Amino acid sequence: TTEAYEAAFDAAVAADERIEPRDWMPEAYRATLIRQMAQHAHSEIIGMQPEANWITRAPSLRRKAILMAKVQDEAGHGLYLYSAAETLGVSRDELLDKLHTGRQKYSSIFNYPTLTWADVGAIGWLVDGAAITNQVPLCRCSYGPYARAMVRVCKEESFHQRQGYELLLALSKGTPAQHAMAQDAVDRWWWPSLMMFGPPDDASAHSAQSMAWKIKRHSNDELRQRFVDICVPQAESLGLSLPDPDLRWNEERGHHDFGTIDWSELTEVIKGNGPCNEQRLGQRRRAHEEGAWVREAAAAHAAKRRTAQHT
Ligand code: 3HC
Repeated sequence: TTEAYEAAFDAAVAADERIEPRDWMPEAYRATLIRQMAQHAHSEIIGMQPEANWITRAPSLRRKAILMAKVQDEAGHGLYLYSAAETLGVSRDELLDKLHTGRQKYSSIFNYPTLTWADVGAIGWLVDGAAITNQVPLCRCSYGPYARAMVRVCKEESFHQRQGYELLLALSKGTPAQHAMAQDAVDRWWWPSLMMFGPPDDASAHSAQSMAWKIKRHSNDELRQRFVDICVPQAESLGLSLPDPDLRWNEERGHHDFGTIDWSELTEVIKGNGPCNEQRLGQRRRAHEEGAWVREAAAAHAAKRRTAQHT
């Protein structure tokens, strides 16, 4: 009976066991995982665009090679996450169609432009740093395929964060113009990086249920606070300041207090009114159309092989 299945599901989640694709699960659990995993995958794929903008403009072969490796990793993370989402009974085509028609989202952070080379460092240090803070707890997510995908992703994300930090350090310690370029990038990427963690807890539609199902292990505000606490000492060792005059250590709380986030900005960017939304989705749709022949050729080849095997 459904009651028995529900009881078994609830007991497994309570016991911190993994739910696997063939296990019974509430339809709402399946739906929220498809939503989150698909949008996570979309974020990885769209996230390639801002960085790729600098592959042909990297200042040295070393920086170019590192950036190419990072962008390739993001593509791999996206494919990994689409495969994990497919275990829930959806097809990649369906998910991509939802992205292309605005029925599924991708992270707001990728709707900002990469104006200088220092942005590549700020993205690595802040955006990938925020991604790690968000993704490490997801390694303990109740849904097996998602949790396992996160273990691999987090290892590669750490390289992304380190290379970004090192890039910024080189600029910060460079000429005054280089230092100013690094500071300008941090000033532009700091607040949008804090918005990656989602709306405040009291405005989060999914947090309560996602935490009850152990998909989300910490609330949006908890992870945001954790990220701020990690970044303050790192900014000090970078010799760069964070653009928040209210940022200060609070001995009582054991955390850094920080200024208020402009939530209307996040709402606008999510609605599609960010600086680069049109450009990002337009480029994604074009890439999908231009890549149709590759998908058709691969499908034809696979069909030919299947026929050959059966003759
Ligand atoms: N950008 C876009 N949409 C956002 C958002 C953001 N920064 N923050 C929240 N939202 C959306 C949510 O998707 C949800 O909308 P939906 O119902 O249409 O999906 C709505 O705003 C309400 O937010 P909630 O907090 O209620 O939603 P969640 O419980 O899903 O929490 C989340 C949001 C913390 C992003 C969670 O979905 C999550 O942890 N996702 C997995 C991680 C992820 O997707 N990270 C995105 C960046 S990936 C990345 O950085 C790659 C790296 O390699 C650079």
